[in-house]
Order: sequence, then structure tokens, then C-alpha cells
Amino acid sequence: MSTLKLPLPDDFHVHLRQGDALADYARDIACQFGRILVMPNTVPALSTTESILNYKNAILSAAPNLEPLMTFKIHSGLTSSDLESFKAMGVVAGKYYPAGVTTNSEDGVSDFESIFPVVSMMEKMGFVFSVHAEEPNVFCLDRETAFIPKIKTLAQKFPKLRIVFEHVSTAAAVKAVLEMPSTVAGTITVHHLTMTLEDLIGDALRPHHFCKPILKLPSDREAIRKAAFSGNPKFFFGSDSAPHKQEKKECAYGAAGIYSAPVLLPILVREFEKENALDKLPNFIAGYGADFYGLPRTTREIQLVKKSWTVPNLIHGVVPLAAGKTLEWSLL
Ligand code: NCD
Ligand code: ZN
Repeated sequence: MSTLKLPLPDDFHVHLRQGDALADYARDIACQFGRILVMPNTVPALSTTESILNYKNAILSAAPNLEPLMTFKIHSGLTSSDLESFKAMGVVAGKYYPAGVTTNSEDGVSDFESIFPVVSMMEKMGFVFSVHAEEPNVFCLDRETAFIPKIKTLAQKFPKLRIVFEHVSTAAAVKAVLEMPSTVAGTITVHHLTMTLEDLIGDALRPHHFCKPILKLPSDREAIRKAAFSGNPKFFFGSDSAPHKQEKKECAYGAAGIYSAPVLLPILVREFEKENALDKLPNFIAGYGADFYGLPRTTREIQLVKKSWTVPNLIHGVVPLAAGKTLEWSLL
């Protein structure tokens, strides 16, 4: 039977939620990943040392082998002493959410320039600036493209700031990341790598494929695939695995977010294998992201085996990506 050994990957964009479910989601991601960048869009958001520390401890007590890389949610009221205490506890990044563009972003930023003083401190202190790049109040398919000038402004105004354009979903975003300086990188999800709007609304409404930023056109997916399979160090993996319970997705006002954690590596291996790019996979999942964040590359490994399995229809009350489908790579 064929097996595949890989470095134990990093996932630079994960939502773990709160309450009892947190332990379930943390254990699921820990089956395939060693380090994860933990998103701060809880309610209330992770914006104080106490909340970040409690959250980190909850993750560690559920999944002791997982290394959570903590983030804070950016708002204009953060002071230098807030940022210094984040730094002292090992927080690696601040996450910028424009107000109202995605799950739990009602408390996001509505005045872009109001955060410049915080951004300037982040630049000096070496925090990564992670951004949900969508412009509110723009037609849904155009929101990401409309946000690009803001990223360009930040890259120019704060030339030492490391910026991550999260979950690129358009050819325009890929192009922008390529054109901007080496301080700007992009993360790529499994769902934007494999699906388009067709999979959301083509034959039927498939709410479990609804996420922000929305799946886009075949030409966008092509650009994202090219970025991932080309082995360009500006692009690395961030799943944006974002679980919502079944009833929150299958209703009249469904939540945005795809629960991809249980199937990430089997799908990534399938896709890279299909493109004859398996040699590019280790850097995509365990190299370029660590380098960009200034972290040592992992020395741990994980093995997969070519043995088919069927993805469960429901995991902890959540319908995962590829539910009911057969995948040919399994974790050993
Ligand atoms: C995420 C969530 O559910 O927290 N949803 C999503 O559609 N991606 C938030 C986010 O990363 O946008
Ligand atoms: Zn996310």
C-alpha cells in the first residue's frame, strides 16, 4: 500500500469557537496539524491578554500536542501596553476584520484610518497583520477586489509590516499579492482551491459550501491553483476551517463558514498529486508560512496511506466539507 510521509503541517487560519465545542474542534485539527493560527472572532472577541490566555489554555487542555499560535482582534482602542503584554505572552498576529463582512465581525473596524496608530505599533513590535480583505457594502462578488487598494496602502505606509492577505478568493487578489513587496503574503484554503460558485449555487443551494469570502469563478480558482502549485513562497496554507452546527447552516439565514478540518490533508494530497506537484506540498503546508511568521520549521512528521474512507455526514453536529464523499488518502 502506498504511504506518504509529510512534515506535520501548520494551518495559518483556524476557528475553534467557544464552550464545549472548542475541545472537539481543537482535537479534530490536532489529528492533522501541529501548529495553528487561532482566529480571534469569538464573542466577545479575543482582544485582552486575559481572554487570549484563557482561550489558549482551553485549547491546550483539550489538545496538548497542538501548538496554538494566538492572535488578537484589532480595534482602534488598543494601546502600546496592550500590545506589549500580547507580545510578552507570545501572541504572533493581529487580525483585522472590516465591520460586518463575516461571522462575528459586527465589532470590526469601520474607519480604516482609525487603526493606523495600532498598525504602526504592530509594525515596530513585529506583529503580523492578518486581514480579512473584503470591503463592506460592495456587491458580494466584488468585495475582495474592492479591498485591494487598502492592502496596497498599508504595504506602502508600513513597509516593515508583514501582511497576510487571508483566504485569497480571486485572481485579482493573487495578482495583487504577487505584485506587492515580499512583506505581503496570501493564505489559500482547500475550498477556494477546489470549488467555485457552481458548488454553492450551481445545481442546488448547498449551504455547507457557503463561506466568506464567497467561492468565485473558474478563472479565479485557476489563479489560486496556479499560485499554490507553483511553489511560490508568497502563498501558504490557511484552511479557514470554520465550523457552524448543522442548524445554523441549514436555515433561512445561514452562517458563513466551512468545516474543513477533518478532511484537509487528504484533499490537499489529492489535489497536489493530481497536478503532479506533490514535491511542492511540504513547503506549502509546513515551510513558507513558518518562514513568513519567523517561526522554526517543524521537525515533526505525519504519514498518510492510500486507503479510501468515507467522510462522515456529521461530526460533532457539524456537516463537514466533503460529507458522505469517499477520499482515497487516509491518515495513518
Ligand atoms: C468565518 C467564521 O465562521 O468564523 N467564516 C467564514 O465564512 N470564513 C469567519 C471568516 O474567516 O471570515
Ligand atoms: Zn476565517
